[in-house]
Amino acid sequence: MSQPVSTAVKVGKTSEAADGGAIPRHVAIIMDGNGRWAKARGLPRTVGHREGAEALRRVLRASAEFGVDYLTVFGFSSENWKRPPEEVTDLMGLLRLYLRQEIAEIDEKGVRLRVIGNRDRLSSDIIQLIEEAERRTAGNSRLNLTVALSYGGRAEIVSAAQQLAKAAQAGSLDPEDIDEGAFQRHLFTSDMPDPDLVIRTSGEKRISNFLLWQSAYAEYVFMDKLWPDFSGEDLKIAITEFGGRKRRYGAAG
Ligand code: FPP
Repeated sequence: MSQPVSTAVKVGKTSEAADGGAIPRHVAIIMDGNGRWAKARGLPRTVGHREGAEALRRVLRASAEFGVDYLTVFGFSSENWKRPPEEVTDLMGLLRLYLRQEIAEIDEKGVRLRVIGNRDRLSSDIIQLIEEAERRTAGNSRLNLTVALSYGGRAEIVSAAQQLAKAAQAGSLDPEDIDEGAFQRHLFTSDMPDPDLVIRTSGEKRISNFLLWQSAYAEYVFMDKLWPDFSGEDLKIAITEFGGRKRRYGAAG
């Protein structure tokens, strides 16, 4: 399952649901709307994020149940560092809690946890928790949960370009050999299939720098639900919509 795939368009091997619809192999989610959920209830944003973490637990369970192989979620973008320090501290606290409290269950359920993004700005205790969680679950293969943290799609592409340029400068890579496959092998997601389905909640219709390269041929489903209200049933709705789409990867229909 974790063999590097060298073709540029890593087509998801979709399976079939009981009702005959296709199940996306890789679902990626922009979990948006925690703040608005809290505001609508006169609660601090913190509470919205806490409820958001609950929604993630539900969606992880539902993904395993539906037979999704890869679930990738946008936990914290490289731009989110610009939020008020209290909110950043709070989100990091939630992450710490998630990594400490959930890891036993995640491991028990056969989930492999990985974190992608720039770790430079993360505190050393969080980096240690991430490394421990990744080590502990490295042998699991029922479902791959990837959390994008301090992640930005453009920065990821720039970093791949830098690595390729350095290899070319050192003489270990012929610039003629820089193709889409070579680029893809230098992304955080080098050993994952591309997302088949990208979901964004809260009614916003933007990509926001999430998996830019990887989502070139993904199907997008935008839903009005705020993330803390998102349920396994909502995931099913998105998957059903995905199942009704005709994917052509640029070819004639
Ligand atoms: C977007 O809502 C959500 C986030 C920036 C963070 C997502 C975090 C969680 C779901 C918490 C649990 C996750 C982990 C990995 C511990 P927003 O704050 O942008 O909402 P708004 O647009 O309504 O203000």
